[in-house]
Amino acid sequence: MDGFELNKIIAAILATVVVVFGINKVTDIIFTPDKPQQSAYKVEKIEPTLASASNTGQAAVGIKELLAMGTVEHGEKVFKRCSACHMIAAGGKNMIGPNLWSILGKQTGVASGYKYSKALAAYGKEWSFEEMNGFLIKPSAHIKGTKMAFAGLKKEKDRASVILYMNSKSDKPLPTP
Ligand code: HEC
Repeated sequence: MDGFELNKIIAAILATVVVVFGINKVTDIIFTPDKPQQSAYKVEKIEPTLASASNTGQAAVGIKELLAMGTVEHGEKVFKRCSACHMIAAGGKNMIGPNLWSILGKQTGVASGYKYSKALAAYGKEWSFEEMNGFLIKPSAHIKGTKMAFAGLKKEKDRASVILYMNSKSDKPLPTP
């Protein structure tokens, strides 16, 4: 290969580079979009809304449909996750959390001899199926300031089952809807 030929090769490469860059530049000029001032997909800070089941205390499906997904037997298994902190027996002791015998249909925060967080002590509702479901999705979202250190039960079947199980552990089970 003589010097002349090498020059031609280099020239060819340079020409290619120039063309490629040139095209880039030209397309930039032709196609540069006007940048919008704000991103079109501005993500709002996600406030928990009552409609979304994942981050709040409210159910996405109706309580009747939800409870239909559960069984007392499965609930007994799910309750093992609660039993680190809760007994559920007539006359059972309070542990880290209050005894949960007859909890469905009861006022919130009234187990005798148990020291509740301010948040739960002041909550003042009744443990209906809906209330319990909302709480168990994510306790800390449903009752802000609760000291129940439990992430929640994401699966509807688990919540439905544990609620049915708790309702069966009662002097006065609520009628299921
Ligand atoms: C890490 C311990 C812990 C686990 C696990 C736990 N809890 Fe609790 N739970 C607590 C504490 C502590 C409280 C009291 C909360 C307060 O005072 O804010 C509580 C309160 C409650 C209450 C309110 C009782 C009342 O008298 O108003 C219910 C209902 C309840 N828990 C159900 C459950 C269920 C069902 C599970 C399992 C799916 C569970 N908890 C798992 C610690 C726990």
